[in-house]
Amino acid sequence: MCSIIGYYGKISAAPILVKGLKRMEYRGYDSVGVATESENKIELKKGIGKVDEVNSKIQLDIMPGKIGIGHTRWATHGKVTDTNAHPHSSNSGKIAIVHNGIIENFEELKQQLENDGYSFKSETDSEIIANLLQKNYELTKNVKETIIKTVSEIKGHYAFVAMFENGQLAAARYHEPLIIGVGKDDFFLSSDVLGFIEYTDDAIYLENGNFVILDKDKFQILDFDGNHAKYGITKVSKEFGDAYKGDYAHFTLKEIYEQPETILKAGEKTTEAIEKTADYLKHSKNIYITGSGTSYNSALIAKQMLSKYAKIKVEPIMSSELQFSPDSIEENSILIAISQSGESADVLEAVKIAKKANCKIISIVNLLTSSLAREADVVIGMNCGPEIGVAATKSFTAQLVIIYKIVEKLNNSEIKINFDKISESVSKTLDKPIRIQIVAQKLKNISDIYVLGRGVHYPIAIEAALKLKELTYIHAEGIPGGELKHGPLALMDESVFVLIINPNDSTYSDTLTSAREIKARGAKIIGISDVESDVYDYWIEISKVEESMYPISEIIPIQLLSYYAALEKDTDPDYPRNLAKSVTVK
Ligand code: F6R
Repeated sequence: MCSIIGYYGKISAAPILVKGLKRMEYRGYDSVGVATESENKIELKKGIGKVDEVNSKIQLDIMPGKIGIGHTRWATHGKVTDTNAHPHSSNSGKIAIVHNGIIENFEELKQQLENDGYSFKSETDSEIIANLLQKNYELTKNVKETIIKTVSEIKGHYAFVAMFENGQLAAARYHEPLIIGVGKDDFFLSSDVLGFIEYTDDAIYLENGNFVILDKDKFQILDFDGNHAKYGITKVSKEFGDAYKGDYAHFTLKEIYEQPETILKAGEKTTEAIEKTADYLKHSKNIYITGSGTSYNSALIAKQMLSKYAKIKVEPIMSSELQFSPDSIEENSILIAISQSGESADVLEAVKIAKKANCKIISIVNLLTSSLAREADVVIGMNCGPEIGVAATKSFTAQLVIIYKIVEKLNNSEIKINFDKISESVSKTLDKPIRIQIVAQKLKNISDIYVLGRGVHYPIAIEAALKLKELTYIHAEGIPGGELKHGPLALMDESVFVLIINPNDSTYSDTLTSAREIKARGAKIIGISDVESDVYDYWIEISKVEESMYPISEIIPIQLLSYYAALEKDTDPDYPRNLAKSVTVK
């Protein structure tokens, strides 16, 4: 979505804000802006483009003042234009705001404000916050009362930071993340700890329905009724500040290449949580598993693994769908919620529904300080470090490893997984990208690609198609092998490429037959397999691994293929158009 940041301190605010925004750019990157306060005046600069682009054009990092706010935008209301970029200032220019989220009643509020003589420059819902604050400030002459009145009038979910001309900063949170960084001589307000991690590792995770006022080296945290709220200071992991590309051209490539290591680290130090999970699963009649996007694809694999190796039945439910069938959750069940960020609005909504039905929540999550981790009864950490590339890569394989660890715990003897071996096989694939790069060149001008897999390889086919569409913008679709003749075969002709996921397991010969049927219609076949075949126009070799481990082994070359095809197509693999890393709106 968007990222918001605020700084209140003793040194120049603008460079700190720009650095923080750059680190949080993964949350939204179609426009950026900064406002600072100096000598009771607010100065504001903003424009469309990524942080570096806009900064080199209009020098966001050269602005006066030691207090300021900033924003990177991922458009929801209104097109990507300079005017729609944040910060937005109120009509008087005495208040500027940055906002992440959606104000649901903005049209109604806008109408009221227009009746009161306020005017609007942008098409955004956010601009109403600036004018509403101004109206309430003129009425109350007090920042605290202004925020209380404003949050009582706006509906939706939001985190916003407001800067007043007198240099006070205030920020409120309702169902969108907002964290206060507490430095020695300064304070930070941010959507993510990445916004301030290089300055302080002391963080206060503002509770939902709370706001903070920063003024003259002090802060007060209050609830929306104005009562002092309880809070705690958390030490955040410095490791999450380690978000640099190093020698890699892109974060996505770096994260793909980190997998031999992250596979070994996934679920580290979570033995107790995994044991507890296994115990819950053994003793519960109904188990649901949920997630969005890639995390939902992990849930699909979990269903198959738990059923095959642990005889445990699990029902996957796409998080975004659960709100339309809340009754499908039986009382007193278990919900396993998978989310890299732990902030996906759909996943949090699914958790809310399950909690209402008195379910226990098991979370598989990368960010241990996230909303999901804080809502869950059991937290299993993916432990794969910050994932900045918008396309999920290392978090997916970390999720799979955790699922395998749960399966192992449940079944004790039948399946014993050698994670060192799988890590080695991943390294082997990554060490020889040449063949994958050659295949990527072939995808440069195509418009359709299909990915076919059977059994547990079908969710991998869906995940592969997701990676291809996100990174290359080629239309990509996962096909369950057995369904080919029930429809998708009609799509096959000389213009399409089909990735066949075909490891040497029980699905092998049926899938090879499907590949032949497709080839007979003229399509080009890319085989992902540990066995070569004449049916493949291009063969991408994977190592032979234990049957249960093929999903990890086969997604790695597809991640690389998507990455290199993105380079061929000249798209930015780290920041696919129209997408954001954590989707904190429904
Ligand atoms: C795909 C991708 C998205 C996320 C989805 C869920 O590459 O990145 O589909 O998987 O938005 O995000 P989390 O796991 O943070 O809940």
